[in-house]
Amino acid sequence: HQKYLAQVFLGMLATILMGLLTPFIRQSIVDFGILGNNMPFINTMLVAGIVLTVSSTGAGFIQSRLMLYVSERISMGMVSDFLRKVLKLPMPFFERKTVSDILTRIGDHGRIQSFIMSTVLGVGINLLLIIVYGSMMFYYETNMFLVFIAGSAIYTGWIFLFVGKRKKLDNQLFEIRSTNSNDLLELLESVNEIKSNNIGDKRRWKWELSRFKIYGLRVKNMNLNQVEATGATFILKMQSVFLTYIAASNVINGYMTLGMMMAAQYILGQLSGPISGMIGYVHSIQFAKLSLQRVNEIILEEEPEKSVSTMDVPDDKTIDIKHLDFHYNPNMEKVLDDINIVFPAGKVTAIVGESGSGKTTLMKLLLRFYEQSIGEINIGGYPLDEIDLNRWRDKCGSVLQDGKLFNDTILYNITLQDDESDIDRNLLNKAIKVARIKGFINRRPLKLYTPIGFNGSGLSQGQKQRILIARAIYKDPDFIFLDEATNSLDANNEKKISENLNEIIDGKTAIIIAHRLSTIRNAHNIVVLHEGKVVEQGNHNELVNRRGKYYQLISNQLEL
Ligand SMILES: Nc1ncnc2c1ncn2[C@@H]1O[C@H](COP(=O)(O)OP(=O)(O)OP(=O)(O)O)[C@@H](O)[C@H]1O
Ligand SMILES: [Mg+2]
Repeated sequence: HQKYLAQVFLGMLATILMGLLTPFIRQSIVDFGILGNNMPFINTMLVAGIVLTVSSTGAGFIQSRLMLYVSERISMGMVSDFLRKVLKLPMPFFERKTVSDILTRIGDHGRIQSFIMSTVLGVGINLLLIIVYGSMMFYYETNMFLVFIAGSAIYTGWIFLFVGKRKKLDNQLFEIRSTNSNDLLELLESVNEIKSNNIGDKRRWKWELSRFKIYGLRVKNMNLNQVEATGATFILKMQSVFLTYIAASNVINGYMTLGMMMAAQYILGQLSGPISGMIGYVHSIQFAKLSLQRVNEIILEEEPEKSVSTMDVPDDKTIDIKHLDFHYNPNMEKVLDDINIVFPAGKVTAIVGESGSGKTTLMKLLLRFYEQSIGEINIGGYPLDEIDLNRWRDKCGSVLQDGKLFNDTILYNITLQDDESDIDRNLLNKAIKVARIKGFINRRPLKLYTPIGFNGSGLSQGQKQRILIARAIYKDPDFIFLDEATNSLDANNEKKISENLNEIIDGKTAIIIAHRLSTIRNAHNIVVLHEGKVVEQGNHNELVNRRGKYYQLISNQLEL
């Protein structure tokens, strides 16, 4: 954007130069025109005045357009780059940070943008003005110039005294703003829970409380600004008292004429604008720096997901897990403890276990949402983390326990393709058939093009799950991971979908986490997890005959 920035800069410079012309025009109207009784000159000056006004108005018009364009491009570029990097961060990052924390950081980009626009341009122009007027001043009267410089230095020192306090306040404000917007997001996202539990007022008060804290910090901020401004005005006034004194005594002592004194004071007046402008930029530089730090905190200090090699997924689709240990947090207990499982290619393996036994965690490790596990996960004999991350995820069709739908059409939610010409119709039909959603799609007036609302708000839970299953099937993956993907379905649909899945499994490796007997009983192998350990493995009949953990888990379903 340098080209456009340069244009904006030139435009501003031209406007300022035109401004410099104005006093000369006025002066010549008086000296040549009026005093010289020169009507033609006055007429010429009229034309000059009109031309100047029209062109500066036009320049301002074009300049603000350019400004909008440049600032929009800069901010879009910055935020988009930020989002690209955020999306590459591993899952633990998203568990630590709230949505509103990230949103507030995106808001920080606005300050960086306005800093770039106003400050970078303004600093250049003001610096130029200070140099031009400063040397004029120096030429007129050295002593006055020195007093002016000394005053400005004290002024700057005073402003810098407040840097530390402002930084602390700004970071506190950031924290509390992000809490406050989190309260608001939660309030709006959990309307159903709030209504059914009648806690609307309490949740609103929670929001009010953090809002009050913001108010408190803003009052502190205002106090700080007022003290700073009062001190600054005092310094400037004292400076002007001394300057007037020097000028007056210079005139009395005959070092200066009255005219020179007036000229010197005019120049001083012109200088003070850019100087205080520069001081204002100190603030905005500081704010931009704080914002940049917060943005960089994420981009630089967080480790992105790494893919060390570009190896393709091996042809052998067997997943072999050896001595796998995992904990979410080094201070907490192991969630998975010495796991050894083989998931053979072309077979369905079921994982069962009590709630909290680590089933979902195991699946997330297979999707490489977390890196810090100990032990081995091998795919066809190759370590999983040596396979290219994107290629691996492209080959995995998964339905997560908290799978999400997008606010778009059914078609998009199955295919995740924006461009309809990229859609594979055969796969689409297969996915619709396996997930048994043809009937309900056809009952909607817009069929596949029916919008489904924010996170599928217009659908039943079982319909959502079936669309998620269709999405996983449409990917035509080599590995299918289903985490409680059919638990909201009626028994009939569940049974049929399980059968359908078994039909399309050929060559694929499937892992199904489920509680319902009908889903797991046909699995080639059933793995029973208990408190992060594998306690039993085998097919349904073997495990039932063992009368162990598996039998305990499903015995109440056997009575049917
Ligand atoms: N992001 C997380 N951070 C910290 N601990 C977690 C996290 N996710 C899960 N846990 C813990 O890990 C353990 C295993 O959780 P996991 O979700 O794998 O269980 P699960 O077997 O899938 O249970 P369910 O049947 O209820 O879905 C639980 O004790 C849980 O509290
Ligand atoms: Mg789970």
